[in-house]
Amino acid sequence: MILHVNHTVGSPGSAALSERASELVRTLLDLVGEGRVDPRLLPALRVHLDWVQYRANFREPVTVRRATDARGQPLALAEIAVDLRQAEPSRFRDELLRALVSMTRDSADEGARVWLDDFAPVRDSLIWQFNRLFWQRLGEWEREAGRGFEEALPSGRSDANHPQAVADTVADFWTLLRDVDKRGQLPPEIFALEIGVGSGIRAALWLDRFKALDEERGTGYYPRLRFLLGDYSVPTLDRAMATVVHHRDAVSVLAMEALNPFRTLSFLRYKILYIHLTNVYDNLPYDELVRRDGRLYLVEARAYLAKEAAERIAADFGVGLTGLARTVSRLLEVGPDVIGDGGRGAAFWRAVWEAVRLEERLVALDDLAQAPLPPGLDQSHLEDLLAEAPEDVRFHLSRGAAESFVNTLPLLHPRGYLQVQDIFVTSMDEYRHGFRGPGKLDGSVVSWVNGALLRAVGARAGYDVHFAPFRYRPASRTSILYTTQRD
Ligand SMILES: C[S@@+](CC[C@H](N)C(=O)[O-])C[C@H]1O[C@@H](n2cnc3c(N)ncnc32)[C@H](O)[C@@H]1O
Repeated sequence: MILHVNHTVGSPGSAALSERASELVRTLLDLVGEGRVDPRLLPALRVHLDWVQYRANFREPVTVRRATDARGQPLALAEIAVDLRQAEPSRFRDELLRALVSMTRDSADEGARVWLDDFAPVRDSLIWQFNRLFWQRLGEWEREAGRGFEEALPSGRSDANHPQAVADTVADFWTLLRDVDKRGQLPPEIFALEIGVGSGIRAALWLDRFKALDEERGTGYYPRLRFLLGDYSVPTLDRAMATVVHHRDAVSVLAMEALNPFRTLSFLRYKILYIHLTNVYDNLPYDELVRRDGRLYLVEARAYLAKEAAERIAADFGVGLTGLARTVSRLLEVGPDVIGDGGRGAAFWRAVWEAVRLEERLVALDDLAQAPLPPGLDQSHLEDLLAEAPEDVRFHLSRGAAESFVNTLPLLHPRGYLQVQDIFVTSMDEYRHGFRGPGKLDGSVVSWVNGALLRAVGARAGYDVHFAPFRYRPASRTSILYTTQRD
Protein backbone atom coordinates (compact mmCIF):
# COMPACT_ATOMS: atom_id res chain seq x y z
CA MET A 1 0.00 0.00 0.00
CA ILE A 2 1.25 3.48 -0.84
CA LEU A 3 0.09 6.55 1.02
CA HIS A 4 -0.14 9.83 -0.92
CA VAL A 5 -0.29 12.99 1.14
CA ASN A 6 -1.76 15.44 -1.36
CA HIS A 7 -2.21 18.44 0.91
CA THR A 8 0.81 20.51 1.74
CA VAL A 9 2.14 22.18 4.84
CA GLY A 10 0.30 25.36 5.66
CA SER A 11 -3.11 24.18 4.53
CA PRO A 12 -5.79 26.01 6.50
CA GLY A 13 -6.18 24.48 9.96
CA SER A 14 -3.08 22.33 9.48
CA ALA A 15 -2.85 21.17 13.12
CA ALA A 16 -6.38 19.78 13.05
CA LEU A 17 -5.66 18.39 9.61
CA SER A 18 -2.61 16.41 10.74
CA GLU A 19 -4.61 15.10 13.67
CA ARG A 20 -7.29 13.86 11.25
CA ALA A 21 -4.68 12.44 8.88
CA SER A 22 -3.02 10.52 11.73
CA GLU A 23 -6.35 9.18 12.89
CA LEU A 24 -7.20 8.04 9.39
CA VAL A 25 -3.87 6.26 8.92
CA ARG A 26 -4.19 4.64 12.35
CA THR A 27 -7.66 3.35 11.45
CA LEU A 28 -6.42 2.03 8.13
CA LEU A 29 -3.51 0.19 9.73
CA ASP A 30 -5.87 -1.26 12.36
CA LEU A 31 -8.01 -2.67 9.55
CA VAL A 32 -4.93 -4.19 7.90
CA GLY A 33 -3.86 -5.63 11.27
CA GLU A 34 -7.31 -7.16 11.77
CA GLY A 35 -7.08 -8.85 8.39
CA ARG A 36 -9.97 -6.74 7.02
CA VAL A 37 -8.08 -5.79 3.87
CA ASP A 38 -7.97 -8.38 1.10
CA PRO A 39 -4.24 -9.25 0.85
CA ARG A 40 -4.51 -9.33 -2.94
CA LEU A 41 -5.45 -5.65 -2.91
CA LEU A 42 -2.62 -4.44 -0.74
CA PRO A 43 0.38 -4.39 -3.12
CA ALA A 44 -1.35 -2.14 -5.65
CA LEU A 45 -3.52 -0.13 -3.25
CA ARG A 46 -2.93 3.61 -3.00
CA VAL A 47 -4.55 5.74 -0.37
CA HIS A 48 -4.78 9.46 -1.07
CA LEU A 49 -5.21 12.04 1.66
CA ASP A 50 -6.71 15.16 0.10
CA TRP A 51 -7.98 18.44 1.38
CA VAL A 52 -10.64 19.66 -1.05
CA GLN A 53 -10.87 23.42 -0.65
CA TYR A 54 -14.18 23.73 -2.49
CA ARG A 55 -16.97 23.51 0.05
CA ALA A 56 -19.27 22.29 -2.72
CA ASN A 57 -17.67 19.57 -4.81
CA PHE A 58 -18.22 16.21 -6.48
CA ARG A 59 -16.55 14.02 -3.86
CA GLU A 60 -17.84 11.82 -1.10
CA PRO A 61 -15.71 11.96 2.06
CA VAL A 62 -14.19 8.58 1.16
CA THR A 63 -14.20 7.40 -2.41
CA VAL A 64 -12.84 4.53 -4.46
CA ARG A 65 -11.22 4.52 -7.88
CA ARG A 66 -10.51 1.35 -9.72
CA ALA A 67 -8.37 0.85 -12.79
CA THR A 68 -9.30 -0.98 -15.95
CA ASP A 69 -7.69 -1.62 -19.30
CA ALA A 70 -9.15 -0.10 -22.45
CA ARG A 71 -11.63 -2.99 -22.72
CA GLY A 72 -12.93 -2.45 -19.20
CA GLN A 73 -11.12 -5.42 -17.67
CA PRO A 74 -10.02 -4.76 -14.08
CA LEU A 75 -6.35 -4.02 -13.39
CA ALA A 76 -4.56 -4.36 -10.08
CA LEU A 77 -4.22 -0.64 -9.33
CA ALA A 78 -6.89 0.63 -6.94
CA GLU A 79 -7.20 3.89 -5.04
CA ILE A 80 -9.05 5.12 -1.99
CA ALA A 81 -9.22 8.90 -1.74
CA VAL A 82 -10.18 10.61 1.49
CA ASP A 83 -11.21 14.25 1.65
CA LEU A 84 -9.96 15.13 5.11
CA ARG A 85 -12.04 18.26 5.10
CA GLN A 86 -15.34 16.39 4.81
CA ALA A 87 -14.56 13.05 6.41
CA GLU A 88 -15.71 12.63 10.00
CA PRO A 89 -13.20 10.81 12.23
CA SER A 90 -16.05 8.98 13.95
CA ARG A 91 -16.96 7.49 10.55
CA PHE A 92 -13.44 6.67 9.31
CA ARG A 93 -13.67 3.00 10.17
CA ASP A 94 -17.08 2.41 8.57
CA GLU A 95 -16.24 4.46 5.50
CA LEU A 96 -12.90 2.72 4.95
CA LEU A 97 -14.49 -0.69 5.40
CA ARG A 98 -17.23 0.17 2.92
CA ALA A 99 -14.60 1.35 0.45
CA LEU A 100 -12.48 -1.76 0.88
CA VAL A 101 -15.44 -4.07 0.44
CA SER A 102 -16.66 -2.24 -2.65
CA MET A 103 -13.23 -2.70 -4.25
CA THR A 104 -13.67 -6.40 -4.42
CA ARG A 105 -17.03 -6.06 -6.14
CA ASP A 106 -17.86 -5.35 -9.76
CA SER A 107 -19.14 -1.87 -9.18
CA ALA A 108 -18.70 0.51 -6.29
CA ASP A 109 -21.78 0.82 -4.13
CA GLU A 110 -24.11 -0.60 -6.75
CA GLY A 111 -27.66 -0.20 -5.46
CA ALA A 112 -26.73 2.71 -3.20
CA ARG A 113 -26.61 5.16 -6.07
CA VAL A 114 -28.84 6.59 -8.77
CA TRP A 115 -26.67 6.88 -11.87
CA LEU A 116 -27.17 9.92 -14.07
CA ASP A 117 -24.82 8.94 -16.90
CA ASP A 118 -22.26 6.33 -17.96
CA PHE A 119 -18.51 6.34 -17.54
CA ALA A 120 -16.92 8.78 -20.00
CA PRO A 121 -13.83 10.99 -20.10
CA VAL A 122 -14.38 13.99 -17.83
CA ARG A 123 -14.77 16.35 -20.81
CA ASP A 124 -17.95 14.47 -21.77
CA SER A 125 -19.43 14.30 -18.29
CA LEU A 126 -22.96 15.41 -17.55
CA ILE A 127 -21.56 18.13 -15.30
CA TRP A 128 -20.88 20.27 -18.38
CA GLN A 129 -24.55 20.19 -19.28
CA PHE A 130 -25.30 21.50 -15.80
CA ASN A 131 -22.63 24.15 -16.28
CA ARG A 132 -24.13 25.30 -19.55
CA LEU A 133 -27.65 25.33 -18.14
CA PHE A 134 -26.42 27.54 -15.31
CA TRP A 135 -25.14 30.27 -17.64
CA GLN A 136 -28.10 30.00 -20.01
CA ARG A 137 -30.67 30.24 -17.21
CA LEU A 138 -28.67 32.29 -14.74
CA GLY A 139 -31.54 34.58 -13.71
CA GLU A 140 -33.77 31.72 -12.60
CA TRP A 141 -30.96 30.19 -10.52
CA GLU A 142 -30.09 33.53 -8.92
CA ARG A 143 -33.71 34.29 -8.06
CA GLU A 144 -34.06 30.94 -6.33
CA ALA A 145 -30.67 31.23 -4.60
CA GLY A 146 -31.39 34.80 -3.51
CA ARG A 147 -27.93 35.99 -4.56
CA GLY A 148 -25.92 36.85 -7.67
CA PHE A 149 -23.32 34.43 -9.04
CA GLU A 150 -20.36 36.64 -8.06
CA GLU A 151 -21.35 36.39 -4.40
CA ALA A 152 -20.63 32.64 -4.59
CA LEU A 153 -16.96 33.30 -5.31
CA PRO A 154 -14.59 32.60 -2.41
CA SER A 155 -13.82 36.32 -2.07
CA GLY A 156 -17.44 37.34 -2.66
CA ARG A 157 -16.53 39.25 -5.81
CA SER A 158 -14.72 38.72 -9.08
CA ASP A 159 -11.07 39.60 -9.64
CA ALA A 160 -12.22 40.71 -13.08
CA ASN A 161 -13.60 43.88 -11.54
CA HIS A 162 -10.75 45.14 -9.40
CA PRO A 163 -10.61 48.87 -10.24
CA GLN A 164 -6.82 49.20 -9.91
CA ALA A 165 -6.18 46.06 -11.99
CA VAL A 166 -8.48 47.41 -14.68
CA ALA A 167 -6.85 50.86 -14.54
CA ASP A 168 -3.37 49.32 -14.94
CA THR A 169 -4.55 47.23 -17.88
CA VAL A 170 -6.04 50.27 -19.56
CA ALA A 171 -2.81 52.23 -19.00
CA ASP A 172 -0.78 49.40 -20.62
CA PHE A 173 -3.19 49.25 -23.53
CA TRP A 174 -3.10 53.00 -24.04
CA THR A 175 0.74 52.87 -24.05
CA LEU A 176 0.62 50.16 -26.70
CA LEU A 177 -1.76 52.21 -28.85
CA ARG A 178 0.47 55.24 -28.52
CA ASP A 179 3.48 53.24 -29.63
CA VAL A 180 1.71 51.65 -32.60
CA ASP A 181 0.34 55.08 -33.47
CA LYS A 182 3.78 56.71 -33.43
CA ARG A 183 4.92 54.13 -35.94
CA GLY A 184 1.97 55.05 -38.13
CA GLN A 185 0.53 51.53 -37.80
CA LEU A 186 -2.65 52.21 -35.82
CA PRO A 187 -5.70 51.09 -37.81
CA PRO A 188 -8.65 53.50 -38.12
CA GLU A 189 -10.80 51.20 -35.97
CA ILE A 190 -9.34 49.95 -32.69
CA PHE A 191 -10.79 46.53 -31.84
CA ALA A 192 -10.86 45.10 -28.30
CA LEU A 193 -12.71 41.99 -27.16
CA GLU A 194 -13.79 40.52 -23.84
CA ILE A 195 -15.02 36.92 -23.79
CA GLY A 196 -17.17 35.54 -20.96
CA VAL A 197 -18.38 38.92 -19.75
CA GLY A 198 -20.46 37.99 -16.71
CA SER A 199 -22.10 41.05 -15.20
CA GLY A 200 -20.34 43.45 -17.62
CA ILE A 201 -18.87 45.36 -14.66
CA ARG A 202 -15.30 44.88 -15.84
CA ALA A 203 -16.15 46.06 -19.35
CA ALA A 204 -17.84 49.17 -17.91
CA LEU A 205 -14.87 49.96 -15.67
CA TRP A 206 -12.46 49.39 -18.54
CA LEU A 207 -14.42 51.62 -20.92
CA ASP A 208 -14.89 54.40 -18.33
CA ARG A 209 -11.18 54.37 -17.60
CA PHE A 210 -10.13 54.22 -21.24
CA LYS A 211 -12.38 57.11 -22.16
CA ALA A 212 -11.11 59.21 -19.25
CA LEU A 213 -7.45 58.50 -20.04
CA ASP A 214 -7.93 59.19 -23.72
CA GLU A 215 -9.64 62.51 -22.97
CA GLU A 216 -6.97 63.43 -20.44
CA ARG A 217 -4.19 62.76 -22.95
CA GLY A 218 -6.14 64.11 -25.91
CA THR A 219 -5.29 61.15 -28.13
CA GLY A 220 -8.69 60.67 -29.76
CA TYR A 221 -8.66 56.86 -29.48
CA TYR A 222 -12.00 56.39 -27.72
CA PRO A 223 -14.12 57.43 -30.73
CA ARG A 224 -12.20 54.88 -32.80
CA LEU A 225 -12.71 52.08 -30.27
CA ARG A 226 -14.86 49.04 -31.16
CA PHE A 227 -15.30 47.05 -27.96
CA LEU A 228 -16.82 43.60 -28.46
CA LEU A 229 -18.54 41.68 -25.66
CA GLY A 230 -18.70 37.93 -26.37
CA ASP A 231 -20.52 35.24 -24.41
CA TYR A 232 -22.61 32.14 -25.15
CA SER A 233 -25.30 33.20 -22.70
CA VAL A 234 -27.82 35.62 -24.18
CA PRO A 235 -29.24 36.70 -20.77
CA THR A 236 -25.66 37.44 -19.69
CA LEU A 237 -25.03 39.52 -22.79
CA ASP A 238 -28.26 41.46 -22.13
CA ARG A 239 -27.17 42.11 -18.56
CA ALA A 240 -23.68 43.17 -19.63
CA MET A 241 -25.04 45.47 -22.32
CA ALA A 242 -27.26 47.18 -19.74
CA THR A 243 -24.15 47.75 -17.58
CA VAL A 244 -22.18 49.40 -20.39
CA VAL A 245 -25.13 51.22 -21.95
CA HIS A 246 -23.44 54.62 -21.52
CA HIS A 247 -20.78 53.38 -23.98
CA ARG A 248 -23.31 51.98 -26.43
CA ASP A 249 -21.74 53.65 -29.47
CA ALA A 250 -18.42 51.90 -28.81
CA VAL A 251 -19.83 48.48 -27.89
CA SER A 252 -21.24 45.47 -29.76
CA VAL A 253 -22.44 42.23 -28.19
CA LEU A 254 -21.86 38.88 -29.85
CA ALA A 255 -23.28 35.47 -28.98
CA MET A 256 -20.22 33.26 -29.32
CA GLU A 257 -18.70 30.01 -28.16
CA ALA A 258 -15.54 30.64 -26.14
CA LEU A 259 -14.08 27.39 -27.49
CA ASN A 260 -13.92 28.97 -30.93
CA PRO A 261 -14.04 32.78 -31.05
CA PHE A 262 -12.45 32.69 -34.49
CA ARG A 263 -15.51 30.98 -35.97
CA THR A 264 -17.68 33.98 -35.05
CA LEU A 265 -15.07 36.65 -35.67
CA SER A 266 -13.07 35.38 -38.65
CA PHE A 267 -13.66 38.75 -40.39
CA LEU A 268 -11.43 40.27 -37.68
CA ARG A 269 -8.43 38.03 -38.32
CA TYR A 270 -5.19 39.83 -37.22
CA LYS A 271 -7.22 42.91 -36.25
CA ILE A 272 -7.91 42.79 -32.52
CA LEU A 273 -5.42 44.63 -30.35
CA TYR A 274 -6.59 43.45 -26.95
CA ILE A 275 -8.47 40.31 -25.91
CA HIS A 276 -9.39 39.63 -22.30
CA LEU A 277 -10.96 36.75 -20.38
CA THR A 278 -11.37 36.33 -16.62
CA ASN A 279 -12.49 33.04 -15.09
CA VAL A 280 -13.63 31.51 -18.35
CA TYR A 281 -10.87 28.94 -18.98
CA ASP A 282 -11.50 27.45 -15.51
CA ASN A 283 -15.09 26.91 -16.59
CA LEU A 284 -14.39 24.96 -19.82
CA PRO A 285 -14.30 21.16 -20.19
CA TYR A 286 -11.05 19.32 -19.53
CA ASP A 287 -9.67 15.81 -19.19
CA GLU A 288 -7.47 14.41 -16.46
CA LEU A 289 -4.52 12.07 -16.77
CA VAL A 290 -2.92 10.06 -14.00
CA ARG A 291 0.55 8.50 -14.01
CA ARG A 292 1.18 5.63 -11.64
CA ASP A 293 4.24 3.35 -11.75
CA GLY A 294 5.20 4.84 -15.11
CA ARG A 295 1.84 4.02 -16.68
CA LEU A 296 -0.68 6.58 -17.91
CA TYR A 297 -4.39 6.42 -17.19
CA LEU A 298 -7.25 8.56 -18.43
CA VAL A 299 -9.77 9.51 -15.75
CA GLU A 300 -13.33 8.58 -16.63
CA ALA A 301 -16.26 9.71 -14.53
CA ARG A 302 -19.94 9.03 -14.14
CA ALA A 303 -22.36 11.22 -12.29
CA TYR A 304 -24.68 9.88 -9.60
CA LEU A 305 -26.86 10.80 -6.68
CA ALA A 306 -26.35 8.92 -3.44
CA LYS A 307 -29.49 6.95 -2.68
CA GLU A 308 -30.37 8.99 0.41
CA ALA A 309 -30.12 12.27 -1.48
CA ALA A 310 -32.04 10.83 -4.42
CA GLU A 311 -34.86 9.63 -2.15
CA ARG A 312 -35.07 13.00 -0.44
CA ILE A 313 -35.23 14.89 -3.75
CA ALA A 314 -37.75 12.46 -5.21
CA ALA A 315 -40.00 12.88 -2.16
CA ASP A 316 -39.61 16.68 -1.98
CA PHE A 317 -40.53 17.18 -5.63
CA GLY A 318 -43.03 14.37 -6.08
CA VAL A 319 -40.89 12.61 -8.71
CA GLY A 320 -40.72 8.81 -8.58
CA LEU A 321 -37.25 7.48 -7.68
CA THR A 322 -37.21 5.30 -10.76
CA GLY A 323 -37.95 8.25 -13.00
CA LEU A 324 -35.49 10.61 -11.30
CA ALA A 325 -32.57 10.13 -13.71
CA ARG A 326 -34.93 10.71 -16.63
CA THR A 327 -36.29 13.90 -15.02
CA VAL A 328 -32.73 15.18 -14.53
CA SER A 329 -31.98 14.52 -18.16
CA ARG A 330 -35.14 16.47 -19.16
CA LEU A 331 -34.05 19.30 -16.89
CA LEU A 332 -30.73 19.46 -18.75
CA GLU A 333 -32.36 19.25 -22.18
CA VAL A 334 -35.24 21.66 -21.68
CA GLY A 335 -34.62 23.67 -18.51
CA PRO A 336 -36.15 23.98 -15.04
CA ASP A 337 -39.68 24.65 -16.34
CA VAL A 338 -40.12 20.91 -17.03
CA ILE A 339 -40.43 20.41 -13.28
CA GLY A 340 -42.70 23.32 -12.55
CA ASP A 341 -42.88 27.07 -12.45
CA GLY A 342 -42.77 29.65 -9.67
CA GLY A 343 -39.26 28.64 -8.67
CA ARG A 344 -40.10 24.95 -8.21
CA GLY A 345 -38.06 23.90 -11.23
CA ALA A 346 -35.09 25.97 -10.12
CA ALA A 347 -35.35 24.54 -6.61
CA PHE A 348 -35.24 21.00 -8.06
CA TRP A 349 -32.28 21.95 -10.24
CA ARG A 350 -30.36 23.34 -7.25
CA ALA A 351 -31.14 20.32 -5.08
CA VAL A 352 -29.93 17.90 -7.75
CA TRP A 353 -26.79 19.88 -8.49
CA GLU A 354 -25.92 20.11 -4.82
CA ALA A 355 -26.20 16.33 -4.54
CA VAL A 356 -24.37 15.33 -7.76
CA ARG A 357 -21.20 13.32 -7.15
CA LEU A 358 -18.75 11.73 -9.58
CA GLU A 359 -17.49 8.19 -9.45
CA GLU A 360 -14.14 7.91 -11.18
CA ARG A 361 -12.20 5.09 -12.76
CA LEU A 362 -8.73 5.06 -14.25
CA VAL A 363 -8.54 3.64 -17.78
CA ALA A 364 -5.04 2.55 -18.75
CA LEU A 365 -3.63 3.90 -21.99
CA ASP A 366 -1.45 1.50 -23.95
CA ASP A 367 0.75 4.36 -25.08
CA LEU A 368 0.94 8.14 -25.26
CA ALA A 369 -0.70 8.17 -28.68
CA GLN A 370 -3.99 7.20 -26.98
CA ALA A 371 -4.05 10.34 -24.80
CA PRO A 372 -6.89 12.64 -25.92
CA LEU A 373 -4.73 15.67 -26.67
CA PRO A 374 -6.31 19.07 -27.10
CA PRO A 375 -5.88 20.89 -30.40
CA GLY A 376 -2.51 22.57 -30.72
CA LEU A 377 -0.69 19.89 -28.77
CA ASP A 378 1.06 16.78 -30.01
CA GLN A 379 2.64 13.77 -28.41
CA SER A 380 6.03 15.43 -28.07
CA HIS A 381 4.45 18.21 -25.96
CA LEU A 382 2.89 15.65 -23.70
CA GLU A 383 6.26 13.93 -23.37
CA ASP A 384 7.81 17.27 -22.38
CA LEU A 385 5.09 17.92 -19.79
CA LEU A 386 5.50 14.45 -18.34
CA ALA A 387 9.28 14.87 -18.23
CA GLU A 388 8.89 17.89 -15.94
CA ALA A 389 6.08 16.33 -13.88
CA PRO A 390 6.48 14.38 -10.65
CA GLU A 391 6.65 10.59 -11.16
CA ASP A 392 3.26 10.03 -9.58
CA VAL A 393 0.93 12.73 -10.76
CA ARG A 394 -2.64 13.54 -11.59
CA PHE A 395 -3.06 16.52 -13.88
CA HIS A 396 -5.44 18.36 -16.17
CA LEU A 397 -5.39 18.26 -19.91
CA SER A 398 -7.17 21.59 -20.13
CA ARG A 399 -8.77 20.82 -23.42
CA GLY A 400 -11.36 23.60 -23.53
CA ALA A 401 -8.82 26.23 -22.47
CA ALA A 402 -6.33 25.05 -25.11
CA GLU A 403 -9.01 24.99 -27.78
CA SER A 404 -10.18 28.47 -26.88
CA PHE A 405 -6.59 29.71 -26.80
CA VAL A 406 -5.60 28.39 -30.26
CA ASN A 407 -8.86 29.65 -31.73
CA THR A 408 -8.33 33.12 -30.28
CA LEU A 409 -4.71 33.77 -31.27
CA PRO A 410 -5.45 34.21 -35.01
CA LEU A 411 -7.65 37.19 -34.12
CA LEU A 412 -4.73 39.11 -32.66
CA HIS A 413 -3.26 42.06 -34.48
CA PRO A 414 0.53 41.57 -34.89
CA ARG A 415 1.03 44.03 -32.00
CA GLY A 416 -2.00 42.82 -30.04
CA TYR A 417 -2.07 40.62 -26.95
CA LEU A 418 -4.27 38.20 -25.10
CA GLN A 419 -4.73 38.61 -21.36
CA VAL A 420 -6.34 35.85 -19.31
CA GLN A 421 -6.97 36.12 -15.57
CA ASP A 422 -7.56 32.75 -14.04
CA ILE A 423 -6.42 30.07 -11.61
CA PHE A 424 -3.45 28.53 -13.40
CA VAL A 425 -1.12 25.73 -12.47
CA THR A 426 2.03 27.23 -13.97
CA SER A 427 4.36 24.24 -13.54
CA MET A 428 3.62 20.54 -13.52
CA ASP A 429 5.22 20.22 -10.11
CA GLU A 430 2.40 22.30 -8.60
CA TYR A 431 0.05 19.38 -9.16
CA ARG A 432 1.70 17.79 -6.15
CA HIS A 433 0.68 20.57 -3.83
CA GLY A 434 -3.05 20.28 -3.42
CA PHE A 435 -6.39 19.72 -5.01
CA ARG A 436 -6.89 21.50 -8.35
CA GLY A 437 -10.55 20.90 -8.99
CA PRO A 438 -13.19 20.31 -9.97
CA GLY A 439 -15.35 22.20 -7.51
CA LYS A 440 -18.80 23.72 -7.74
CA LEU A 441 -19.35 27.47 -7.65
CA ASP A 442 -23.08 27.96 -7.43
CA GLY A 443 -24.38 26.05 -10.47
CA SER A 444 -21.10 26.12 -12.39
CA VAL A 445 -17.98 23.95 -12.54
CA VAL A 446 -14.57 25.36 -11.63
CA SER A 447 -11.22 23.71 -12.21
CA TRP A 448 -7.64 24.94 -12.31
CA VAL A 449 -6.10 25.40 -15.75
CA ASN A 450 -2.88 23.73 -16.84
CA GLY A 451 -0.76 26.77 -17.68
CA ALA A 452 2.28 24.63 -18.53
CA LEU A 453 0.21 23.06 -21.28
CA LEU A 454 -0.92 26.46 -22.59
CA ARG A 455 2.71 27.54 -22.70
CA ALA A 456 3.43 24.61 -25.04
CA VAL A 457 0.37 25.36 -27.18
CA GLY A 458 1.36 29.05 -27.40
CA ALA A 459 4.95 28.29 -28.39
CA ARG A 460 3.74 26.19 -31.27
CA ALA A 461 1.47 29.02 -32.46
CA GLY A 462 4.36 31.50 -32.32
CA TYR A 463 3.64 33.09 -28.93
CA ASP A 464 5.47 33.19 -25.63
CA VAL A 465 3.09 32.76 -22.72
CA HIS A 466 3.86 34.51 -19.42
CA PHE A 467 2.24 34.40 -16.02
CA ALA A 468 2.18 37.31 -13.60
CA PRO A 469 0.69 37.19 -10.11
CA PHE A 470 -2.55 39.08 -9.57
CA ARG A 471 -1.20 41.39 -6.88
CA TYR A 472 -4.34 43.44 -6.31
CA ARG A 473 -6.02 41.24 -3.72
CA PRO A 474 -4.09 39.64 -0.86
CA ALA A 475 -4.18 35.81 -0.99
CA SER A 476 -5.75 35.84 -4.45
CA ARG A 477 -5.07 32.59 -6.34
CA THR A 478 -5.51 34.36 -9.67
CA SER A 479 -2.61 34.75 -12.12
CA ILE A 480 -2.55 36.82 -15.27
CA LEU A 481 -1.55 35.06 -18.45
CA TYR A 482 -0.40 37.32 -21.26
CA THR A 483 1.08 36.60 -24.64
CA THR A 484 3.95 38.17 -26.52
CA GLN A 485 4.70 37.33 -30.10
CA ARG A 486 7.92 35.40 -30.71
CA ASP A 487 10.42 37.15 -32.97
C1 LIG B 1 -17.27 32.43 -14.25
S1 LIG B 1 -18.06 33.54 -15.32
C2 LIG B 1 -16.89 34.86 -15.40
C3 LIG B 1 -17.54 36.17 -15.66
C4 LIG B 1 -16.59 37.38 -15.59
N1 LIG B 1 -15.56 37.30 -16.60
C5 LIG B 1 -15.97 37.47 -14.22
O1 LIG B 1 -14.84 37.04 -14.04
O2 LIG B 1 -16.65 37.98 -13.32
C6 LIG B 1 -17.90 32.75 -16.88
C7 LIG B 1 -18.50 33.52 -18.03
O3 LIG B 1 -18.14 32.84 -19.22
C8 LIG B 1 -19.30 32.50 -19.97
N2 LIG B 1 -19.01 31.20 -20.58
C9 LIG B 1 -18.78 30.02 -19.97
N3 LIG B 1 -18.56 29.06 -20.87
C10 LIG B 1 -18.63 29.64 -22.09
C11 LIG B 1 -18.50 29.16 -23.41
N4 LIG B 1 -18.23 27.87 -23.65
N5 LIG B 1 -18.65 30.03 -24.42
C12 LIG B 1 -18.94 31.35 -24.19
N6 LIG B 1 -19.09 31.85 -22.95
C13 LIG B 1 -18.93 31.01 -21.92
C14 LIG B 1 -20.44 32.49 -18.98
O4 LIG B 1 -21.68 32.75 -19.60
C15 LIG B 1 -20.01 33.61 -18.02
O5 LIG B 1 -20.41 34.87 -18.48
